[in-house]
Amino acid sequence: MVVAATGGVAAIKTPAVLRRLREAGMGVRAAATEDAYRFVTRLSLAVAAGSEPFDRSAWFTADGQVRHLEWAAWADALVVAPATADAISSAASGRADDVVSALVISGIPKVLWLPAMNTAMWSHPAVRRNVERLEADGHTLLGPVIGPLAARGEGAGLGRMVEPDAVPAAVEALFQERDFEGRKVLVSAGPTREYLDPVRFLSNPSSGKMGYAVAEAARARGASVTLVSGPSALDVPVGVERIRVESAGQMLGALIGPFADADLLVMTAAVADWRAAEVATEKIAKFDERQALELVRTPDILMALAEYRRDQVVVGFSMETDKGVERAAEKARRKRLDFVCLNYPATEDSAFGGDFNRVTVVTSNGEVEELPRLRKRELADSILDRVLPRLRPIQS
Ligand code: CTP
Repeated sequence: MVVAATGGVAAIKTPAVLRRLREAGMGVRAAATEDAYRFVTRLSLAVAAGSEPFDRSAWFTADGQVRHLEWAAWADALVVAPATADAISSAASGRADDVVSALVISGIPKVLWLPAMNTAMWSHPAVRRNVERLEADGHTLLGPVIGPLAARGEGAGLGRMVEPDAVPAAVEALFQERDFEGRKVLVSAGPTREYLDPVRFLSNPSSGKMGYAVAEAARARGASVTLVSGPSALDVPVGVERIRVESAGQMLGALIGPFADADLLVMTAAVADWRAAEVATEKIAKFDERQALELVRTPDILMALAEYRRDQVVVGFSMETDKGVERAAEKARRKRLDFVCLNYPATEDSAFGGDFNRVTVVTSNGEVEELPRLRKRELADSILDRVLPRLRPIQS
């Protein structure tokens, strides 16, 4: 694919975008407008891409090559990062007087724009109009996001280019079949925390990676996704709405509303099963060698939601140390789940914190399917593949 920089200060990040895409195994070339070179050098783009960039100096050469057409025929996608208001305007009106706008109208199948500009410019009706035109032409926009902006005194606002780390997933999503288009997907992720006093809590080492991967995969397949997350260090996937919670009670509270009109709930959260019978309002001092702690059960979120279930598909996760399959099938029946993804805590494929996981899918009527060890992101797609035939027909 071609990654094209246009003339905004975020062009300093274009080499990082190229590197992230190369690290993800994608073939990249760089292109740049003349104004992009006010912010990033030709050499840094060349090094990051591993080849000479396409720019005005390489455009009109006497070697008989019509370079924008040749590059457009080679590329499966064009990523404009950063995309200025001017670049968006040129492309929306079909101009071809710089290398990027010329590439846009030369037949590259997919175009992804990463806008970067000041908040007032982004919200101006002229820019909104141009963005709508690009979308109508089948282009995709990623961001901008809220963050610190370049202009002096501006502080944070909507207009910052998405971080380079988010780009490979967005490019993959361009080629992804959008088989969850029009679907509402609800995902829970991470651990919960049950406080004993203001500074101590019961929890577990869940990182949230599995749930965040499911949210990202569903979004890439066209779903509108709400992610209810316990404490996690992970960045929210672009385009996903995240609701942060701490305790099991809060997680249940945050899930109930969106569950009503969801098509799917994937419950990956490692919910703490116990909480203190009484939460101390002051820090508990260490008086004695022994300290008794009275615990009570937290709400079973899936059981509570089962009351409100209509035709939503519901998927649970389960971590078992022995008799996994029987217990998982029994759990699927008891919690009225379509299926349970069974994983084991103490293996080399250990789920907690890692990037890989191995699960066995167990349905309520006892069907068992062992999936291979997969990256959590790939596993997320495998789970969604198994959900797809169970979804209710789309209501128009
Ligand atoms: N879960 C939940 N509410 C809880 C605990 C767990 O909704 N209070 C969900 C988890 O998110 C997971 C599924 O239930 O999707 C299975 O979790 P697990 O703890 O294995 O189930 P339990 O029924 O609590 O298992 P056990 O009876 O073996 O403790």
